[in-house]
Amino acid sequence: MENPFVIKAYESKELFCDREEELQLMLRNCLNQTDMTMVSQRRLGKTGLILRLFDELKDTHREIQTIYLDIFSSRNLDDFIKLFSEAALRSFQPKTPIGERLLSYIKSFRPIVSYDSLTAQPQLQLAYHTVHEKEYTLRGLFDFLDGQNTPIIVAIDEFQQIREYPEQNMEALLRTYIQQCRNLNFIFSGSKKHIMTDIFANERKPFYSSTAFVSLGKISVESYSAFIRKLFGQDDRSITDEAIQFILEWTQRVTYFTQQLCHVIFANGITTIDLAVVKSACDQILKLGETVYLQYRQMLTEKQWNYLIAVAKEGSVRQITAADFLKRHQIGGASASRKLAESLSQKGLLNVEVSLDGIDYSVDDVFFSHWLERL
Ligand SMILES: Nc1ncnc2c1ncn2[C@@H]1O[C@H](COP(=O)(O)OP(=O)(O)O)[C@@H](O)[C@H]1O
Ligand SMILES: [Mg+2]
Repeated sequence: MENPFVIKAYESKELFCDREEELQLMLRNCLNQTDMTMVSQRRLGKTGLILRLFDELKDTHREIQTIYLDIFSSRNLDDFIKLFSEAALRSFQPKTPIGERLLSYIKSFRPIVSYDSLTAQPQLQLAYHTVHEKEYTLRGLFDFLDGQNTPIIVAIDEFQQIREYPEQNMEALLRTYIQQCRNLNFIFSGSKKHIMTDIFANERKPFYSSTAFVSLGKISVESYSAFIRKLFGQDDRSITDEAIQFILEWTQRVTYFTQQLCHVIFANGITTIDLAVVKSACDQILKLGETVYLQYRQMLTEKQWNYLIAVAKEGSVRQITAADFLKRHQIGGASASRKLAESLSQKGLLNVEVSLDGIDYSVDDVFFSHWLERL
């Protein structure tokens, strides 16, 4: 049996754990033409849920078309247009009427069209002479899709990336086009909470209050336990309650890490899974990560490195300027602590979780954190 614990892109609803409530909410929003913003920390399953939603729409509402684009790698408006066009081409197959019209529409920008040799997906190279031409092209794409008289859901993943573009008016521009569309609805998804909040919840910004928020938390202990037991069971394997509990605690129920650990346990082939089996899979994971972890060490100053270890040993730190934390780990003063936390979160090594009760710092990579805590 193939490993049922998916560690890459979404595969099927059978291998997808829970998210029923969020899915139903998103379905309702799609049917009611409500644009959405989805925010959560990295690796909890935003992208997976979007693809799960699109899969569900394909089964239950065939008339609704879907377009998915991830703009994480984009640097400017040119890239955005390119990714958007390619995503649209992927969604509408060449032999369908819309697909034909879309291809000939895009060809009117005179791009160089090539096809990826591995995936056979279309790739575009576009050239513009003026900024005006660019904006015209983008607007044209929205108009074209909107004019097909078919409902289309467009998901733009890692949307906060538009804040990195040199074009200053991206948000105003997009907001204007989006507002004029009658058949297009949008899902904006992102991991950088403070930027996403500033885009969608700051009353001085164009997107203010224009979308419904979908926030994604961790999958519940009950759902994830049942899911893990079921997937091992389907391969005639057994797993103890204690083992499952340990998996969920050790990975802190961050979906990516939970899936990884279960994937490794499954791959080891053992049929009766107890705590010892799980713990040895954990060791295996940390051993595998070691090369990368040691590279991090090269990138950091000694103070930064020691700070990471301190946070890892604490698990999660609420008061990074509290006297006992500073003293216990010989960090120095409060402002040194703040500076270190800032530089490490800039590098993506620390995760900053802001909630109503305060700000929590933890090492972003849960496996790395376990490795550090053993030092
Ligand atoms: N509900 C789920 N059940 C099982 N696997 C999931 C689920 N959600 C996400 N995953 C898997 O976990 C990993 C991380 O999820 P991803 O959607 O990429 O997170 P994000 O987009 O929030 O960073 C991926 O391999 C994904 O396929
Ligand atoms: Mg993602």
